[in-house]
Amino acid sequence: MSHIYEALQRAEAERKSATHEDVITFDPRNSKDTLEAFAEPSEGAIAIAEKAPLPATDASFLIDVPRRPWNPSFDRLPGLQKSGAGVEQFRSLRSRLQEFRDLKSLKSLLVSSGMPREGKSFIAANLALNLARHKNSKVLLIDGDMRCSSLHQYLGCDCNPGLADYLSGKAGIQEVMQYAEEVKDRDPVVSAVLNNLAFIPGGDGGDRAADLSGSKRIDELLATAAPYFDWIVVDSPPVLLVSDAVNLARSCDAVLLVARAGITTFPVAQRAQYELKASNIIGFVLNAVDKSVITESYYYRYDGKTE
Ligand SMILES: Nc1ncnc2c1ncn2[C@@H]1O[C@H](COP(=O)(O)OP(=O)(O)OP(=O)(O)O)[C@@H](O)[C@H]1O
Ligand SMILES: [Mg+2]
Repeated sequence: MSHIYEALQRAEAERKSATHEDVITFDPRNSKDTLEAFAEPSEGAIAIAEKAPLPATDASFLIDVPRRPWNPSFDRLPGLQKSGAGVEQFRSLRSRLQEFRDLKSLKSLLVSSGMPREGKSFIAANLALNLARHKNSKVLLIDGDMRCSSLHQYLGCDCNPGLADYLSGKAGIQEVMQYAEEVKDRDPVVSAVLNNLAFIPGGDGGDRAADLSGSKRIDELLATAAPYFDWIVVDSPPVLLVSDAVNLARSCDAVLLVARAGITTFPVAQRAQYELKASNIIGFVLNAVDKSVITESYYYRYDGKTE
């Protein structure tokens, strides 16, 4: 009881302190900054469960990750905007995840849904960026859709080498991982968020995607990366069409399912949940809800007219 109460209190404190100034101001690839940040978290930084100091000998791991040119697609990334309904929605989602994490171990999260175009990649990309807005929060985003990768389009970067190359043994972890190259005139808020986000694109899995997603190397990748990141968000293909998402889900701590308002039918959502029943499904995100519905219910509550 008291644990839940504390978790809710922390979530509330996070909600109140989550402003644009809360973005990270250190470069996660810089071992000195990283170690200092762990030793003395800045005032107002939100406590993250399970955050253990990195062993000094391992701090060079992220330094070997290359920086590549990124040109984010801002119109598809409300998670990168300064304010607005989209930012608020992703902030709420982040708070809910934080509550889960306070109760149970949670670092790697697979985003899935039953059918194509329900918004898995949209949610995965924006959630990862929103998690990366946090002070000292290091996030790894992985495109687990090796048949039809799209996260590189959201971030405006290369798709190769990617996860398929790592899983097939053609490349090592640091070769397939990338950070955004620094751009001089980029908005400082955007730069700070991108500085905290590492990305593994899908690469070209083609027909081998199902076999690759079932490879033990995915467990190795997640286990190797886990000590360096606070969150690992993995996108996936539709669970009702191919087996890849079920395979990837086995290696992740939890699954977040996506349903698209007005598109996803109840039987499809139910079957998606059934397919992933062996994994830890922590909830559904209802994506693309009509803005007027959100605004109306907010004002009703604010005016005290309804609960
Ligand atoms: N909430 C949203 N607001 C605006 N656009 C959205 C939203 N959700 C998804 N989209 C857009 O809808 C399209 C389909 O979304 P997305 O690619 O995320 O679906 P998906 O479930 O990953 O599909 P697939 O299974 O084919 O990979 C994309 O162009 C995406 O940018
Ligand atoms: Mg997708």
